[in-house]
Amino acid sequence: MKIQAPKGTRDILPSEIHRWQYVSRVFAGLCDSFGYKEIRIPVFEYTELFQRGVGDTTDIVQKEMYTFDDKGGRSVTLRPEGTAGVVRSYIENGMYSLPQPIKLYYDITAYRYENVQKGRYREFHQFGVEAFGAAGSEIDVEVISLLHMFFEKLRLKQTGLNINSIGCPACRKAYHEKLKDFFRPHLSELCNDCRNRFDKNPLRIIDCKNEECRKFIDGAPLLLDNLCDECRNHFEGLRSGLDNLGINYAIDPKIVRGLDYYTRTVFEFVSENGGSQGTICGGGRYDGLVEECGGPSVPGIGFALGVERLLMELDIQGVAIEEPPAPDIYIATMGQRAVDLAMQMVYKLRGHGVQAETDLMGRSLKAQMKYADKKRFSYTIAIGDDEIEAGKGVLKDMRTGDQKDVSLDSIVDRLKNQVNQAK
Ligand code: HAM
Repeated sequence: MKIQAPKGTRDILPSEIHRWQYVSRVFAGLCDSFGYKEIRIPVFEYTELFQRGVGDTTDIVQKEMYTFDDKGGRSVTLRPEGTAGVVRSYIENGMYSLPQPIKLYYDITAYRYENVQKGRYREFHQFGVEAFGAAGSEIDVEVISLLHMFFEKLRLKQTGLNINSIGCPACRKAYHEKLKDFFRPHLSELCNDCRNRFDKNPLRIIDCKNEECRKFIDGAPLLLDNLCDECRNHFEGLRSGLDNLGINYAIDPKIVRGLDYYTRTVFEFVSENGGSQGTICGGGRYDGLVEECGGPSVPGIGFALGVERLLMELDIQGVAIEEPPAPDIYIATMGQRAVDLAMQMVYKLRGHGVQAETDLMGRSLKAQMKYADKKRFSYTIAIGDDEIEAGKGVLKDMRTGDQKDVSLDSIVDRLKNQVNQAK
């Protein structure tokens, strides 16, 4: 039987890797300008971290985690997202005793046992940032502005920013009671998940996608109308900060997000091209999470962006990503002396950053030239005993067809200068 990649995973092939490398490079460059440093966290963590961090009542923890016992009998889980691992690292490495804020970014894979469909995979990629230590709304504005600028740099239009506040534990407690009073008469008509949420985390009922539940949800009281003064001021601060930078947004009081750790600010960047997987990016503030995971009381905020969804959106919007440049020079060979010389030449050229190749397949000269043409090399030169005796060969510019006699000794310097000037 042919072994296939597991459902919900896919290979990123050499023919498309430049697209991935491009968006990673733009994201990393922007994080650098904003003062965010890269962090690399493990692919797996002890399961308890996600139970506590992401939250026991979330779909992720209840249904979607890749959890297994390792050979030592400890339960470990492939990270379903990056925030919990980054928070664990922040605490474990004592980053709270360094000057705050601590501003981090990551470029990771994540794993969720999902119903696979377009834009929804079991292994997927996220770019994310997490910023710790700042409680004011300025950092919320900074994090959102980073994303906004990222989309601008990618020339991605038609993505809307939606923001909301889901308050703090104090205002949420009072609101939960209101929400329960509202849903109680309809409890028997709600789906199983919502009946469970009713006691544990009624706010998440608002996020239910079930058609029957949605009939009731539309009239439910909104947390945004029930914020305490501090949370309302924080939200106003966010709004005026975004206005100050000229960043457009819509308020969507129904955003609650699918993870338990959020407090106050939540936001999403959504494709205007619709589709159920239209949320390209989601994030928010999590002022209680560091403490929940065993650290001091330190506020935090961040986001994660789905790279597959980002690339899909770039495609839909017809944003072209530049193809990698053609390789520089192919040295075709005839005979063993030429092979030895060509091996020396490509070795030197590569050391100078020139993309140089020679035959590794024992092909005929004709087949080598055909290969060089197919691979779109910018230059070719063919060497054999005659060229070695004469100390020169014919360098062909494959784009213009120009041919020039050049001394073999000068090839390395000539190509090195030519290529480095072009770069
Ligand atoms: P999330 O909303 O679960 O948030 O995921 C963020 C983004 O990851 C989504 O908007 C989506 O683009 C992408 N994504 C999620 N699941 C899948 C999937 N199965 N297949 C493809 N893409 C997917 C978080 O992960 C939070 N950690 C974000 C955050 C960081 N909040 C604060 N800091």
